Amino acid sequence: MENLYVNLGENSYNISFHSNFSQLTDILSEINAPKKLLVVTDTNVEGLYADEIMKLLKDAGYDAACYAFPAGEENKNMDTLLGILNACMEHKLDRKSMLIALGGGVVGDMTGFSASIYMRGISFVQVPTTLLSQSDSSVGGKTGIDFGGAKNILGAFLQPKHVYINVATVKTLPEKEIISGLGEVIKHGIIRDTAFYDFLSDNVETVKALDPETLMDMSRTNCAIKAAVVEADEKESGVRAHLNFGHTIGHAIESASDYALTHGACVGLGMIAASYIAEQRGIITDTELESIIDILERYGFETRVEIEDFDKVMAVMLSDKKNIGGKIRFVLPTSIGSVDIFDDVSGDEIYSALEFISL
Ligand code: NAD
Ligand code: GLY
Repeated sequence: MENLYVNLGENSYNISFHSNFSQLTDILSEINAPKKLLVVTDTNVEGLYADEIMKLLKDAGYDAACYAFPAGEENKNMDTLLGILNACMEHKLDRKSMLIALGGGVVGDMTGFSASIYMRGISFVQVPTTLLSQSDSSVGGKTGIDFGGAKNILGAFLQPKHVYINVATVKTLPEKEIISGLGEVIKHGIIRDTAFYDFLSDNVETVKALDPETLMDMSRTNCAIKAAVVEADEKESGVRAHLNFGHTIGHAIESASDYALTHGACVGLGMIAASYIAEQRGIITDTELESIIDILERYGFETRVEIEDFDKVMAVMLSDKKNIGGKIRFVLPTSIGSVDIFDDVSGDEIYSALEFISL
């Protein structure tokens, strides 16, 4: 399948779509990857895919080592950063060496951030293995790690040299991780592309069955939407904010639940809440709101949740680092296929949206 070119001047790169890993070394050779590589992964992905990747790399003559850190968001931290940097030094990586991020968003963020600071910056390639990382976190160059109790509070922009998407890896994911990724995919349809939204609506069963052809089509269009937003606003000073659709209330619910609920599940709830605000304002129709709830339901999202303390959710929203001038920023749909930014959503509107998604 044709590559997707992400046009960012000297930071441009391709995203390629595959149903296995067999072309990885051809692509590394196309991008003139150095011989010395460090594959960074987590302990879950290591057990699933690291042997295959390491064999491919060694057979192709690369001097590759592998470093695996314990899986999980709780390890997206300084200790892991130091572990990766130590591995870079032990494997004697130099300024021309490259890191390969083999895993989900945590591996991608940790590896990208490590690459951005090792020897003042080396290159990296993303090999995302979760639906969320294939649909969202591997495309765009933002990297982040958690610190002092705050998520993604440290980070850097570093675009990868290539993103190699093997859609078959999602077959080993637990269902909740599939739903987590689908939240971002459906979001991309709602914020930018009615035809893609319709494709998702028409292909619920084949997507849920993880049919490779359908996943490949879905992945390509999904990444094209994300890439176009990144091309328009690489460093997040404008339209990138549209990607936060569903995340304002979603992230607050996720955080208020102490991360008992998954990110994707919360983004789904956040999209319903934001769409409800839009519907109440008369910006979208009740048919559009119903359609958004319906598609999420058909993909297996919870459309209602128990919210114990509305004030706690509100407090998290007020402390969001994306707020400007103390105002909570909302991205609301203006139709299925477009969104806009609103700085004037009132507390009453937010509380009634929380009521709407409450069990
Ligand atoms: P993750 O990396 O923790 O992966 C989820 C789980 O799936 C982990 O346990 C992992 O070991 C496991 N896993 C990975 N691939 C697997 C596979 N193929 N089969 C079976 N298990 C597999 O989480 P995620 O959902 O991929 O990403 C979430 C992270 O991404 C968060 O830290 C978030 O902040 C970050 N993120 C970053 C950006 C960005 O712009 N940089 C954007 C979105 C999300
Ligand atoms: N790394 C994903 C993004 O920049 O949005």
